[in-house]
Amino acid sequence: MNAIEIKGLKKSFRGMYALNGLDMTVPVGSIYGFIGENGSGKSTTEKLICGHLVKDSGTIKLFGKDYTDAGTRIRVGALIENAGCFPNSSIFMNLKMQCLNLGIENIEEEISRVLKIVRMEEHRELKFKKCSLGMKQRVGIAMALLGNPALLILDEPINGLDTDGMKIMREILVEITQDYNCTVLISSHILGELEKIATHYGIIRQGKMIQELTAKEMESRARVFVSFKVAEPEKAILILKKKYSNVREELGFVRVYDEEDVDGVVKYLIDNNIIPSEINKNKVGLEEYYIELMTNKEVK
Ligand SMILES: Nc1ncnc2c1ncn2[C@@H]1O[C@H](COP(=O)(O)OP(=O)(O)O)[C@@H](O)[C@H]1O
Ligand SMILES: [Mg+2]
Repeated sequence: MNAIEIKGLKKSFRGMYALNGLDMTVPVGSIYGFIGENGSGKSTTEKLICGHLVKDSGTIKLFGKDYTDAGTRIRVGALIENAGCFPNSSIFMNLKMQCLNLGIENIEEEISRVLKIVRMEEHRELKFKKCSLGMKQRVGIAMALLGNPALLILDEPINGLDTDGMKIMREILVEITQDYNCTVLISSHILGELEKIATHYGIIRQGKMIQELTAKEMESRARVFVSFKVAEPEKAILILKKKYSNVREELGFVRVYDEEDVDGVVKYLIDNNIIPSEINKNKVGLEEYYIELMTNKEVK
């Protein structure tokens, strides 16, 4: 079963396509990292799923049903752009007003539940405007969690957070999926952070999904390489290419891809009178994989 299934989604603003036939599949129980440059269409997709915008064409299914079916969208909690809180009201009051909006009955209980999840129980009386950015994001998540949604949509929630804030956010998201059986769609351009929590990835570019893959697939595509510095990279690359098929200069280092035998590479260089320094064995991470996709370079 998929939490979200989108086919051929189109949305234009003043004749310009923001989404141009987007396909997207988010399995139930996943933490889906939705990745793309600014302006690629992430927020537009999320707003369409939540019904904040009206699509031009295409289909959106949530848990197997059309997203306009009664009872479907109510299972979605979202934090898009900002929490929409009243700055002069306390965190508790903001949550209470949202509970009233949603028609939630056990208000006290529900507020305690969501504040516990986002680790904000002791701050309930704090005015929203007094919250740090990280706290505001967590209040936003608490707001989105009211009513126990089956799908949580978070638009760039780790944007601008410090290391501690990110760590808490990661713990919260993992807990939400594991303990509350909730699917999470999270958009971000901080790829290194997504890498630690996402189970699936979707990479969007100019309103189209250019690739969807699981974290496992990403891992298997993470190519190993040996990297080092040399005085004359061009000369070294020419010589290395006689023995190794995939050699490139990247970020000031020469890289021999798909090669784990560091000693073998070093010996070959020295036999050819090239002295390497800063020698490392490494893996292409999500960030680099993404940059390669975006710049249309060959990706294995
Ligand atoms: N309300 C709007 N009016 C006009 N253009 C919009 C509107 N919302 C988004 N766009 C345009 O649609 C494209 C996608 O935007 P958006 O979905 O916000 O991208 P992202 O969230 O990936 O940064 C951009 O070119 C943006 O300028
Ligand atoms: Mg956006």
